[in-house]
Amino acid sequence: MRQVLVAGNWKMNGSRESIKGLLDGIKAGMGDVNAQVAVCAPYVYLADVQAQLAGSNIGFGAQDIATEDSGAYTGEVSGPMLNDFGCQYVIVGHSERRSLFCEADEDTARKFAAARRHGMTPILCVGESLAEREGNVTEEVVARQLDAVIALEGVAALNDAVIAYEPVWAIGTGLTASPEQAQAVHAFIRAKIAGLDAAVAEKVQILYGGSMKPGNAAELIAQPDIDGGLIGGAALVADDFLGICRAGG
Ligand code: 13P
Repeated sequence: MRQVLVAGNWKMNGSRESIKGLLDGIKAGMGDVNAQVAVCAPYVYLADVQAQLAGSNIGFGAQDIATEDSGAYTGEVSGPMLNDFGCQYVIVGHSERRSLFCEADEDTARKFAAARRHGMTPILCVGESLAEREGNVTEEVVARQLDAVIALEGVAALNDAVIAYEPVWAIGTGLTASPEQAQAVHAFIRAKIAGLDAAVAEKVQILYGGSMKPGNAAELIAQPDIDGGLIGGAALVADDFLGICRAGG
């Protein structure tokens, strides 16, 4: 049985002060949470997050990683640097990185490799745009995004990874994929992996992301192939985030 994971993606939000309050609130409410919980913070707050979460059972990580380990890459942050701050997770290939920062499938695959190379769990985001869904190419798009990673790292690499299905049209829009729509894509992803390695498919956690809230989380996470959530907006409010964590069983 796969454990439920609820991960917050704070994106480019917060301040030192607000993050302190947010983490205090989350820590205080963890008593009745059974799910695995993690938060992915902006780089500059990782030291604060590490200090505040020391001794707690809340994991944390970054939202991106450089493909290279060091060198003349102005503005980039490498795997060894993230190791310095104890990061356990790294989001790779978020749709905002893909669309706003021109990240190609191959770039995402190399970031996935960088995270694993330095002992962190990549949270690999995949998902289709509205035009792609309307064009009936959702499965094709998600398969292409997964294939880039599998081609570089092999299917067994997914043993140490998390996948997040995030339909782009549902991110930050208030539009959520219905449990049936989300389950269909999650099942497709798992079946595709099972075609290469059944044990990896059975093990890998596949999260849903896109306007997940306390009110819709339980129904989504109850689907057989949905193993938790990657949460944007609702992860910025302790009670909302905790509400989703509790919906995870
Ligand atoms: P929202 O929960 O704000 O829709 O964001 C989802 C997301 O992009 C998480 O990575």
